[in-house]
Formats: sequence, C-alpha cells, structure tokens
Amino acid sequence: MGESVNLVEIKGVYKCYHKKAKPKEYAVYKVNLNIKKGEILGLVGESGCGKSSLAKMILKLEQPTKGKILFNEQDITDYSFSQMRKIRNRMQMVFQDSTNAFNPYYTVEQIISEPLNNYSNESEKEKEKKIVSMLEKVGLNKTYLTRYSHEMSGGQRQRIGIARALILHPEFVVCDEAVSSIDYALKKQILNLLTDLKQQFGLTYLFISHDIAAVNKICDRVVVMYLGNIVEVISNINENVQHPYTKALLAATLFPDPKKRRKNTVLFREGEEIKVPEKGCVFQNRCFYAQNICKTKQPDLMTQKDGHEVACHLYHHC
Ligand SMILES: Nc1ncnc2c1ncn2[C@@H]1O[C@H](COP(=O)(O)OP(=O)(O)OP(=O)(O)O)[C@@H](O)[C@H]1O
Ligand SMILES: [Mg+2]
Repeated sequence: MGESVNLVEIKGVYKCYHKKAKPKEYAVYKVNLNIKKGEILGLVGESGCGKSSLAKMILKLEQPTKGKILFNEQDITDYSFSQMRKIRNRMQMVFQDSTNAFNPYYTVEQIISEPLNNYSNESEKEKEKKIVSMLEKVGLNKTYLTRYSHEMSGGQRQRIGIARALILHPEFVVCDEAVSSIDYALKKQILNLLTDLKQQFGLTYLFISHDIAAVNKICDRVVVMYLGNIVEVISNINENVQHPYTKALLAATLFPDPKKRRKNTVLFREGEEIKVPEKGCVFQNRCFYAQNICKTKQPDLMTQKDGHEVACHLYHHC
C-alpha cells in the first residue's frame, strides 16, 4: 500500500466564484487530496458542495483561487494553454450535463473523432474502426455515427461523452455523474467497461456521484464533501464511517422507505436553510452530536492509522 504513487496532488486548493464571498463561503475550501495512480476515487456530497468545481480545477477548466494542482509530479497550476495542450490528451472528463457538452452541428462521428484528430495521425479508416468499436463498448452501434447530439436521448449522449473521453486511452478520467441517467443494465455494462479499461491500461478515475452506495461498489476510496470542504476520506463505507454527515448521507440513501429514512438521518429537515457557519465546523448546524468546540474551532482533516481521514472533533483525540 505504501508503494502507491500519486497521479494528482491537490494542495491547499480554494475556489471562489464571487469576489464578495467570505472564505467560508467558497465553492471549494482548503482541499488537500491525492489521487493515486490506478485507483478509482469516488467523490460524493450534496448538490452544490463543490464536486464539479474541484474536478474542473484538476483538469484546469477552472483556475484555483489559491493552492496548487500537480499532475504526474508536475505543478500545472500556472500552465499556459499550450503547455496544457501537451498533457490534455492524458486527462479527460465526462461531463455531468452532456446536453451542452457537444457542438450541436457535429455528428457523433465528428464528436468522437475530435480527440483523435487532435492527438493521433491515423488514417480515416483506422479512426472509423476505432470509433465504431468504442460505440459498441458503450452499448451503441455504427448507425449512430451520422446522428447529431439533439437526435439522441440523455443517456445516449452520456455514452457518447464516455466514448469520446476514453477513445485516446487517457491516464486520468473524471466521470461527473457519468452514469446517472443511464438505466440499470447499461449502467452495469458501462461500469464494467470503466473497470476493465482501468485494469487493461492502468487508468485512474475520479468518479463523481450523488449516490454514495453505488460509488462505494466500484471505488477504492470515497471522498465526502460538504459545503466545499472534505469531511471524510474512507476506503469502505460499509465498515467504518465516522463523520456524522457521511452517516446521514448513507442513511438517506440506504433506506428506501421514506419514514425510516427520516428517522435515520439528520439531512433534509424541511424548511431548513443551509448556511455556512462563520466559524467552527461547517456541519455544526445540522449535526446531532455538535459540542461547544464544534461551534468555535474548525476540525482539520486528520489521517488515522489505516489511512482513513476524517474532519470531526468527535474523532480527534489529543
Ligand atoms: N461558473 C460558476 N460561477 C459562479 N458560481 C459557480 C460556478 N460554478 C459553480 N458555482 C457555484 O459553486 C458551488 C459549487 O458548485 P459545483 O458545480 O462545484 O457543485 P456540485 O457539487 O458539482 O453540485 P451538483 O451535484 O449539483 O453538480 C455552487 O454554489 C455553485 O452555484
Ligand atoms: Mg456537479
């Protein structure tokens, strides 16, 4: 375990979109995280907690307000467009909203061949063969080559996004809710494809999803974010979840019966407005276990012996 090498290092990263925002209101707040080569890292948390913002900063689609991003040990934080171009083919993203991700005037063939045209010099025939084979892997076929993105369903568009992201066999792929609008059987097929490719080519994934249980199935570790902060990093959510927020998130997902869910969770209190506290722990307002210290001191993300990381005073024993 100790041998693992980091593909991505996120060091003290903050993201602020609004000039007037107080630091505590930043979309991403003081994030430190390493993504190891060959791992599938899950990223979960409620809508608006900063998952996509963090992912976009890793790929340099957004610039961090503060902090550093390293890829393969190179500090890419201040890389120019042309410097990024050299490594862009090694990092890909499957976007959350595939509706707007594609040029509406492009056919599926043009959409998927874009990265091939930019980064490889194969013949048209070879390219088409590759594209058709990738289409089949995501459960589509060559009849889709001539379609435009508006002529497809949301799930089909998402699969085109996955095909485009994987066509160059990148080193690192961010899947932002990549399989959420795909039905069960196909979802399984695509998750299998992602894990097969990981095994074949040693790919590394950042897998963003609302569904903590689904993420846990395919991920080596799961990162839990709350209001821009990482609150827990855990290797198996079935074993040793510690942070009250993660517990609540799990309870909310795992109990399909709404009555039971309400009892087991501190989330989703009706009419509740979620505000970022001025000081102390970000989760204090919604936490059943909040103590005095939680109102004054923000808990650091601390690493335990087994590599489990948690930012909660309940687990910080001095
Ligand atoms: N380009 C932007 N300009 C201004 N604010 C933004 C921008 N992008 C994101 N935000 C804000 O930053 C916060 C985090 O957004 P982000 O998209 O990272 O959340 P998320 O965790 O991906 O949510 P979801 O699960 O809904 O996709 C939100 O409050 C959002 O409104
Ligand atoms: Mg998002």
